[in-house]
Amino acid sequence: MFDQSYKLKICSLFAGGGLFDYAFKQYFDIIWANELSPAAAACYRANIGDHIQVGDIQNIDPSEIPESDGYIGGPPCIDFSSNGRNNGESGETGHLIWVYYKLIQTKRPKFFLFENVSNLSVRHKETLERLVEAFDSVGYNVSFKTLDAADYGVAQFRKRVFVAGIRKDLGFTFDFPAPAAAQINVREAIGDLPVPTTAHSRQRVLGDFPNHVATWESPTPQRIIDVIQHPRSQWRGMRRLQWDYPSPTITAHVSKDGREHLFPSEPRRITVREGLRLMSVPDDFIIPAEVPLSHQYRIVGNGIAYHVADALAHALYTQFQVYDTTLAI
Ligand SMILES: C[S@@+](CC[C@H](N)C(=O)[O-])C[C@H]1O[C@@H](n2cnc3c(N)ncnc32)[C@H](O)[C@@H]1O
Repeated sequence: MFDQSYKLKICSLFAGGGLFDYAFKQYFDIIWANELSPAAAACYRANIGDHIQVGDIQNIDPSEIPESDGYIGGPPCIDFSSNGRNNGESGETGHLIWVYYKLIQTKRPKFFLFENVSNLSVRHKETLERLVEAFDSVGYNVSFKTLDAADYGVAQFRKRVFVAGIRKDLGFTFDFPAPAAAQINVREAIGDLPVPTTAHSRQRVLGDFPNHVATWESPTPQRIIDVIQHPRSQWRGMRRLQWDYPSPTITAHVSKDGREHLFPSEPRRITVREGLRLMSVPDDFIIPAEVPLSHQYRIVGNGIAYHVADALAHALYTQFQVYDTTLAI
């Protein structure tokens, strides 16, 4: 395993419900986090810790944010997403990538790890290039890479771009972890789950198997059956998962109606637990029942797939440990 006594301190920005941090907390001491949504923060608190502060990061003076070895986080992606607004950095939340940059420039941690949708390196490539240059100009060795969760043992095609910076005086550049595992499919990820508890989507129930609660009112079973019997209706945006393939990307849209991620063999959307499994999140990550169901789905769709987060956290941990050991010799 790894040396529990060797834990660098990190702060987490745009922490969401804490999927990224759930992997990082194994290798790092997370001392502070920030998130705008109280519902997401409630999930974070239940699974990671009380160190999360709720509020708009733009209203927090950098001097109030603790000094730490590293900062991690993924600013909102809707303005960079091909399925989202695609307005880029001039969009409502797109400029937050520069808020992240300014914080790194001010704090000058040993490292940072930034995440966003892969479209930031495609349609918004010019923005990504300027961001990388900016990090370089304030003293970081920067590497970036698009990783597909399906290459890291996650039953989902999910491409995300990661930008890692190591402060230049440390003398190394982050090496991204190689794809680690064979592709797994929807059956392997969710096929063993019990029959879910049934509820109305406005009810706040945890379910017999936590977060495994089936709701049937949106989209209705009749609507789903109609789509299946008349495949042309697929054009209206409904999609069923297929047992023998990875899931298509789960986005925050799943919080609206779930019609793009219908259970493979029943006329219902996937449960939150099925979504978490498709993000490879361990079952001991439990979203509290008081978090409204739509927010629970948003936490899933916004998150970083656990096995990808784990591979990144482990790689950062190992590369820093090697660096520190070399210094000690
Ligand atoms: C892509 S999600 C992060 C998900 C997280 N990395 C995870 O793995 O669970 C981005 C988060 O930024 C939050 N956010 C948006 N605007 C913000 C702001 N101005 N200040 C702080 N957080 C903000 C959103 O509520 C959302 O939870």
